[in-house]
Amino acid sequence: MKNWSIIVAIGNNNEIGKDNDLLWRISADLKRFKTITTGNTIVMGRKTFESLPKGALPNRRNIVLSKQNLEYENTEVYSTVEQVVEATKDDKDVFVIGGASVYELFISKVNKMYLTQVNEDFDADVFFPEFDWSEWSVLEKDYVDKGEKNQFAHTFYILNRI
Ligand SMILES: NC(=O)c1ccc[n+]([C@@H]2O[C@H](COP(=O)([O-])OP(=O)(O)OC[C@H]3O[C@@H](n4cnc5c(N)ncnc54)[C@H](OP(=O)(O)O)[C@@H]3O)[C@@H](O)[C@H]2O)c1
Repeated sequence: MKNWSIIVAIGNNNEIGKDNDLLWRISADLKRFKTITTGNTIVMGRKTFESLPKGALPNRRNIVLSKQNLEYENTEVYSTVEQVVEATKDDKDVFVIGGASVYELFISKVNKMYLTQVNEDFDADVFFPEFDWSEWSVLEKDYVDKGEKNQFAHTFYILNRI
């Protein structure tokens, strides 16, 4: 798989969500997510899709994984990883955007991660899979202190699989 990336924001304990929602709203992170994914293909689990307030994200090819026979507007639904790989074989960049179960399915396959580390402990019910930082080289690291628009300090990483 070429140009497959994960994009995720994690807390201190790899936490990513609770009650099918995010744990924080960090405007700089939402902006970064939009900039990186716009014009590209995004792959997500059915629960993450259903957590989106307005359905499919605009200006992106939206792909959802589900075992159910579902139809959503402006969205393709596939029931296996193999189907997603086949359907995206001509796409330049594909971003796996969550949630936990879909990160689990793809983490061994992606070669890049856009990871936001939020410097806080959160009460959560879903977690990013454990991964070994020593298998990843840091291409970019950008620390952002907390401020008026950002409730939590965080670090934007771009990681490349070694
Ligand atoms: N912090 C972040 O960066 C971030 C990013 C995204 C999401 N999240 C959070 O993560 C949470 C959702 O994660 P989640 O793990 O509960 O759900 P999810 O991964 O979004 O969706 C799970 C669903 O995906 C489908 N699925 C999973 N594996 C599949 C497979 N092998 N084949 C076919 N379909 C498959 C199933 O749908 P069916 O049940 O329909 O078969 C499953 O119920 C929410 O709290 C969300 O806010 C956080």
